[in-house]
Amino acid sequence: MVIAAEALSFSYPDGTHALAEVSLEVRKGEFLALMGANGCGKTTLLKHFIGLLKPSSGRVLLDGKELRRFEDREIFRRIGMVFQDPNDQLFAATVEHDVAFGAVNLGLTEDEVAARTGEALRLVGAGELGDKAIHALSFGQKRRVAIAGVLAMEPEVILLDEPTSGLDPRGTSSIMHLLRKLNRERAITMVVATHDVELVPLFCDWVAIMSRGRMVGEETPQRLFADTAMVREAGLRLPRMAHLAEILHKEDGVRFPAVPLTIAQARRALLKLMEGRQESEAGAFCRVDGEEG
Ligand SMILES: Nc1ncnc2c1ncn2[C@@H]1O[C@H](COP(=O)(O)OP(=O)(O)O)[C@@H](O)[C@H]1O
Ligand SMILES: [Mg+2]
Repeated sequence: MVIAAEALSFSYPDGTHALAEVSLEVRKGEFLALMGANGCGKTTLLKHFIGLLKPSSGRVLLDGKELRRFEDREIFRRIGMVFQDPNDQLFAATVEHDVAFGAVNLGLTEDEVAARTGEALRLVGAGELGDKAIHALSFGQKRRVAIAGVLAMEPEVILLDEPTSGLDPRGTSSIMHLLRKLNRERAITMVVATHDVELVPLFCDWVAIMSRGRMVGEETPQRLFADTAMVREAGLRLPRMAHLAEILHKEDGVRFPAVPLTIAQARRALLKLMEGRQESEAGAFCRVDGEEG
């Protein structure tokens, strides 16, 4: 286990009950999606995981020890958070200064900071942006720089709040591939808050679904999206391919052995069904021939 919430409840000062008895375990090395409709409590939960908000009741554990017993410095060294809006995260004048900021605060040597900053920028594909003024970056570039700043700290866990919001399809795909690569190759545990049901089956090992401040279920993407009622009750929709399979089943009687979630899965399933159909059509011809003979 890395991070865990145990019966976590939280109310904002204005009285909004944002989390109600939320329990969730984030396991070392996994790529976890935290899903749910707007306002269900994803951001609030992520902020608890890094100690920016303190539970009204219940607790957050880091490696089995209560988070509030850790020094902030230790938490920020081990856990990084990428905010939904990069403008909330970036504040230095230039890209290089911004990315270096966290690493400087870790007390690293100048050389070490420079090495980490350069590598983090290269990793996010922003190697050439070092001297650029933050205010002159595009939104997508800002998101990359914000991620680089977190990477330069070399955390064990990265929490990302809707990392693809506001990005075009290419930007979305490249950010998600980057996160998966970091997860697989550097064993960084990823927790991604998102309501993008198309991305989750492609990139995530495990999904936790929240609804109105509660945790309503957690599963592999395959099993979770098979529970169509739960997904819809949580204010989410099915992945397009799963929706297509549902319509083909209801309207046309086509049975899928497993709900396809991605284009690749749907393609395989449809090819299988077509093969089966061709075989049974061929079989029907044989029988007819036989009877006549
Ligand atoms: N600073 C705040 N003060 C009061 N209520 C808030 C604040 N931030 C969020 N909320 C409320 O808490 C609930 C959960 O919000 P949030 O965690 O941002 O949801 P999500 O990230 O899933 O969209 C919502 O009802 C939201 O209006
Ligand atoms: Mg949010």
